[in-house]
Amino acid sequence: MQTIAIYPGTFDPITNGHSDLVQRASRLCTKTIVAVARNTGKSPFFTWEERVELAREALAGIPGVEVQGFEILLVEFARQCKAQVILRGLRAVSDFEYEFQLASMNRHLNAEIETVFLTPAEQYSFISSSLVREIARLGGDIDAFVPPNVAAALKQRIG
Ligand code: COA
Repeated sequence: MQTIAIYPGTFDPITNGHSDLVQRASRLCTKTIVAVARNTGKSPFFTWEERVELAREALAGIPGVEVQGFEILLVEFARQCKAQVILRGLRAVSDFEYEFQLASMNRHLNAEIETVFLTPAEQYSFISSSLVREIARLGGDIDAFVPPNVAAALKQRIG
């Protein structure tokens, strides 16, 4: 069976934790679409176009992976892409409540699309985009947490 999965998020910016998840997904799915949301109620550090471009560069070369921006309902975007699966990462128990709510709401909106959870490698379980941004802003070393193109973009933006 051909499995098309959508991995949605803000990706502000993409981190090594996200890439780890995409690599795992690429081994399970025929196609993995990394879907960069334009608006998520957060005020993003990088623009939508920058977030898409950074993710594209970072994930180039992983088989069956493509990056697309979207600004409609996630389940509608998944339907348009013919995806059967929404993929989300669970890093810790603290992620569970929000993820359970999101998955349940998406199931109400479209019962044909299943949410599947993957866990990242242990060394990525504490990374989040907002922590990476904060560390970069305060001059800390972020090289171990993000792909090289993202580290360069953060350093350039922060100056
Ligand atoms: N490694 C590192 N960090 C990870 C991670 C991983 N494997 N998985 C999640 N994160 C982090 C993110 O960096 C982010 O951290 P931050 O908040 O500190 O920046 C946090 O976990 C959660 O972000 P993300 O996974 O990007 O989710 P989100 O809450 O920003 O995105 C959407 C939610 C985009 C999925 C949701 O808003 C959506 O579907 N929007 C489309 C519109 C829609 O359909 N809305 C109704 C939904 S029911």
